[in-house]
Amino acid sequence: MPSLEEARKILADAGQSHVLAFWDRLDAPARESLLAQIGRIDFAAVAKLRGVLADAGAKAAPAAAAPMEPAPVVELAGGELAAARARGEEELRAGRVGALVVAGGQGSRLGFEGPKGCYPVGPITDAPLFFFHARKLLALKRRYGRPVPFYVMTSETNDAATRAFFEEHAYFGLAKEDVFFFVQGMWPALDPEGKVILDRPDHVFLSPDGHGGTLAALERSGALADMEARGLASVFYFQVDNPMVDVADPAFVGYHAAQGADLSVKVCAKRDPQEGLGVAVRRGSRTEIVEYTEFTDEQKNERLPDGELRYKYGSVAIHVFSVPFLRREASAGLPVHVAHKKVPHVDEAGAVVKPSAPNAYKFEKFIFDALADAKVCPCVAFDREAEFSPVKNAEGSDSPATCRADLSRKWARWLRAAGVAVPLDERGYPLHKIEIDPAFAFDAASLAERDLSAVDPAGDILLEEKN
Ligand code: UD1
Repeated sequence: MPSLEEARKILADAGQSHVLAFWDRLDAPARESLLAQIGRIDFAAVAKLRGVLADAGAKAAPAAAAPMEPAPVVELAGGELAAARARGEEELRAGRVGALVVAGGQGSRLGFEGPKGCYPVGPITDAPLFFFHARKLLALKRRYGRPVPFYVMTSETNDAATRAFFEEHAYFGLAKEDVFFFVQGMWPALDPEGKVILDRPDHVFLSPDGHGGTLAALERSGALADMEARGLASVFYFQVDNPMVDVADPAFVGYHAAQGADLSVKVCAKRDPQEGLGVAVRRGSRTEIVEYTEFTDEQKNERLPDGELRYKYGSVAIHVFSVPFLRREASAGLPVHVAHKKVPHVDEAGAVVKPSAPNAYKFEKFIFDALADAKVCPCVAFDREAEFSPVKNAEGSDSPATCRADLSRKWARWLRAAGVAVPLDERGYPLHKIEIDPAFAFDAASLAERDLSAVDPAGDILLEEKN
């Protein structure tokens, strides 16, 4: 921790002396925590962010303005699908596959205070998002005989709560040594003059550095070394907000392995032109994902002669990374994206103000920018009804309500395929609630192997594995 004198010097050199504006009014513990925070902030990085902000002001056109075309998309079917799945199963049996969830985000749109992974989504039991991810990994371990180590990225704000939640739930049945928590970096926000922002008289506002922070955090934390020590060849990457995700799906993992890919991208047809999904595009010999915010309305609505959207496929942030590629990327500097946001700050009297309009710039790195360095990066299409229904908004689309309904509908399809005549409404949603613990069955085939003779389709159906 720097002394007051040292802190004054650090701040003066960085042009951030206002951080000590309330010093005279702070008590001893507040002074200590502010000095400690000043010691932790990387002001050289802050200077770079100031540069990014200056450049962003000068940037005339959004990323989607440069010439591009939709990236080619593979639709696996028939023999190719069977071969990919067989290869993926081989990888799982050999213990060469890990899983990585990014769970450092703040869930602000959802209005949920705790770690987003703790959000209850089980239609009957209110089981949290983390339950569905972890239990799928438990099922894979039981099926293939080898653990799929689970790397959970948290941030400073939710790390302790996330670890405590896993402890409290006995790691959802996973072996503790197969779960590796690692913490992403935090960056200050800047006001239009490039000054960091005090959100309390004794505290500089910080927010997570984006899921692109995963790459550096994997190395810093030892998680990457752990992957290498375990002999993992690839890591299945996904977001915490989507309980439908088919974690370590053998076909996707197998296709990635068979192609010798660095980074593979799952894509699905967009629900409508405005849906907030990044889009995989091709520019020259490179594949990129361009964020939805960077597309113009005209581009979003562009149609081919057959009426299909030109940019039909969106990325749902489900990837497979090869471990050597993660190692190569650990020290690669990803581009920094800037967003104009509402950031709480203190007024001259030290009182906290929650602004009603954007007042500051937040900075983030995006993991998919690593595509720029990937030599082989296939985009593989999948059926969104089977695998994608994220919890992002408190209400409306992509909300807890739509997610629970989509989960029930998917499980209803599995049950009907297994011969249980679950009654459906005209839109294909079950009339009663359904919930299936992934450790009981993680797909239609594994459900069909279970004894379902006692299941009564005339009421709610809860299928749990007892351990
Ligand atoms: C994201 C993707 C978008 C994709 C969509 C699919 C970005 C910029 N966009 O949009 O391309 O089509 O999901 O659902 O990611 N996270 C961290 N640390 C951070 C920031 C985010 O771990 O610093 C995690 C969150 O916990 C969450 C995920 O990343 O699991 C996505 O973050 P979110 O901000 O919800 O992204 P979207 O705008 O929904």
